[in-house]
Amino acid sequence: MEKLLTAAMANLLIKRLFVFCLFFSAFLNCKTAASQVSTSVLPSTKVKLAQHAAVVTAHPLASKAGLEILKKGGNAFDAAITTQLVLAVVYPGAGNLGGGGFMIAHQKDGKNLCLDFREVAPEKAFKNMYLDSNENPIPGLSQDGHLACGVPGTISGIFKILKYARLPFKDLIEPAIKYAQNGFALTSDQADDLNELKNDFLKNNHNPVAFVKDNPWKEGDILVQPELAATLNRIKENRLAGFYQGLTAQYIVEEMKNGNGIISYDDLKNYEARDRIPMEFDYKLNHIVTMPLPSSGGIILKQLLKMTAYKNMSSMGFQTPECMQLIIEAERCAYADRAFFLGDPDFVKVPIQTLTSESYLQSRINNYEPHKAGNSNDTKAGVINESEETTHISIIDDEGNAVAITTTLNDSYGSKTVVSKAGFILNNEMDDFSIKPGVPNLYGVTGNKANAIEPRKKMLSSMTPTIVLKDNKPVIVVGTPGGSTIPTNVFQTITSLIDFKMSPEDAVNLPKFHFQWLPDVVYFEPDFPIEKKIHLVEMGYSVRDRGYMGRTELIKIDYQKGKIITAIADKRGDDDAAGF
Ligand code: DON
Repeated sequence: MEKLLTAAMANLLIKRLFVFCLFFSAFLNCKTAASQVSTSVLPSTKVKLAQHAAVVTAHPLASKAGLEILKKGGNAFDAAITTQLVLAVVYPGAGNLGGGGFMIAHQKDGKNLCLDFREVAPEKAFKNMYLDSNENPIPGLSQDGHLACGVPGTISGIFKILKYARLPFKDLIEPAIKYAQNGFALTSDQADDLNELKNDFLKNNHNPVAFVKDNPWKEGDILVQPELAATLNRIKENRLAGFYQGLTAQYIVEEMKNGNGIISYDDLKNYEARDRIPMEFDYKLNHIVTMPLPSSGGIILKQLLKMTAYKNMSSMGFQTPECMQLIIEAERCAYADRAFFLGDPDFVKVPIQTLTSESYLQSRINNYEPHKAGNSNDTKAGVINESEETTHISIIDDEGNAVAITTTLNDSYGSKTVVSKAGFILNNEMDDFSIKPGVPNLYGVTGNKANAIEPRKKMLSSMTPTIVLKDNKPVIVVGTPGGSTIPTNVFQTITSLIDFKMSPEDAVNLPKFHFQWLPDVVYFEPDFPIEKKIHLVEMGYSVRDRGYMGRTELIKIDYQKGKIITAIADKRGDDDAAGF
């Protein structure tokens, strides 16, 4: 009897233990899921020192998700996919499924990669599509609403990156799905942006969208995006076809019909991201790997570095009057060339070799008078004789792979058109074309025939994801948003590090300036030292203060004392650096 009783008690105990285990594991599962529902705003880390790997993005949740993938054994490409997808959820002003971008990468075996997932003009696009019958631009048409959208490239880009990644795609997309499904806490800046754009969303969208609510948004409010979660689930199940075909494609085409849009099923089905040959060149014992056309970024960066090196900028001192004049005059030449010569190389012949050759650049930069402002009316493009929202991700892994991706919807929240039932925002990238010769775009840059609209053509970009190598190892991974200010911003960060030996933190955060040929005005960030501006005014330059330019995400790697990684997230936003 006693034995029987003991056996029964043991049995009961085992059952209880089993039930307890079940509850405990359910509790643990809940905790893991809950860790991907952010119910409070995660503070940003601005400087992170690491030994193994680092991720810098525009949002703490994206950096955290990328870091977790790296810790799980993923490489820089795995982390790049996850951070891009998470940004599309938690940073919807620029992170995207409905936009496009560029990647520059360095593989651990020493190979450099370049991927172009820039949007293209739809098949029905045509040269004068944003002009009225008198050939005058129709205000806002290339920037706002359905007709402003190019065919999105981001998802095609992600599946091209996947071939260099290691973990299963379903694991890489999961964090984004969780944040879309369960929500995340808005930062104060995000709440302000959504409140400011409420009327634009209401104007462009007939159906309710996740970004609009009756009462104003405030910091800490949870943004839940169930339609976006469903789209991400379709991509998880059907991969490329989960976006470019089937229900998502149907929703995009239906959305086009809600407005004046022209993207068709065929435009979507035919989109394919392109491998390109990166632009590479040496600069003072370093090797720069950057973005070629259809971005103007790499060409401008190369022109600026070569022209300023020719005049021995590093001997002039950081932001001395002499140094600033040299940079401005180099920028005058580079942006004049951009406006005249640059466009999609599949459609126009661009004299890249000449534009970036030593002799051409020397002759261009020799033309200005010291201490006297040049004049953009007198500076045309060179003579050739021959037949505000984007986001950047910088990543380095423990194996030596480095990834720099700049991706965009163009303006903040793109065209402000949300694809109904699919929950994502479409870009307004068509405005990066020259809608009419000489008419400035959103960023004040003008263009010409080379960047005129044609079906299936890519609009000229300024995005400049860049990796600097020394002894074929990555030492700098850098990039920024900022429209036409991107190349000058990347130029200033790189030269602050290489020429002026500045700390990575100062190279990112010290106030910058910008000049782009037209308008003939030098722009300054807040807190730019007044005495430096006065020197330029005395030389005859027009100067103007403006808001912050870009949000630079920088990783610097030093190999002298073992490997020391310094990851810097720009102070100008919620940007966050993570690493281990
Ligand atoms: O491709 C380009 O150059 C622009 N669409 C980038 C826009 C941008 O950086 C906006 N960020 N502030």
